[in-house]
Amino acid sequence: MATEKAPSTSYATYLAESSEALFIALDERDNYTYQHCDRVSLLARELGMACGLSQQELDLLAISARFHDIGKIGIPDSVLLKPGALDAEEWALMKMHPVKGERLFRNTLHPHAAEVARIIRHHHECFNGSGYPDQLSGEDIPLASRILLIVDGYDAMSTSRPYHHGRSHSEIMEIMLAEEGQKTDPTLFRQFIQVIANSAARVA
Ligand SMILES: [Fe+2]
Repeated sequence: MATEKAPSTSYATYLAESSEALFIALDERDNYTYQHCDRVSLLARELGMACGLSQQELDLLAISARFHDIGKIGIPDSVLLKPGALDAEEWALMKMHPVKGERLFRNTLHPHAAEVARIIRHHHECFNGSGYPDQLSGEDIPLASRILLIVDGYDAMSTSRPYHHGRSHSEIMEIMLAEEGQKTDPTLFRQFIQVIANSAARVA
């Protein structure tokens, strides 16, 4: 009796990879955000490793990082691609991207869609409860979301946008030190200081 050749990838891998089309859609929509998410994913993994996350937690962190801004697909061009500062009404629209991203990712076939979607929803929550969309604070914010807030902020400040030049490493760290315990989890931020000092993601 002929034996069937085992498929080269497992069904779980197939499901995980099926969400890649969504990531490519982000590249089509906004190449800056696509590249930002790719960089954030690498740096998030470095910080996650330094924080002692398990392999499974690291995998979920990396995929959440890649998709953290996927909700920007649903933000109008006039806001997403505006070559200037946003007004209050435009900010209100932009701040909907974590919830839009949660909805998008929850509907992929990824085997951990619900967990990743929750991390995406909370990636702009601040440690002191002043973030969005749910004003969560402290350890009520998922650990991966707290890691994302730090590495997302570093990458966003280090790159040039139509309305601001990329900042230097020392300028970014000065801003982030002032935000420690307000925006960022102080324990994670102390780890980040060590990680970024030796990371390829550190800017000059
Ligand atoms: Fe975001």
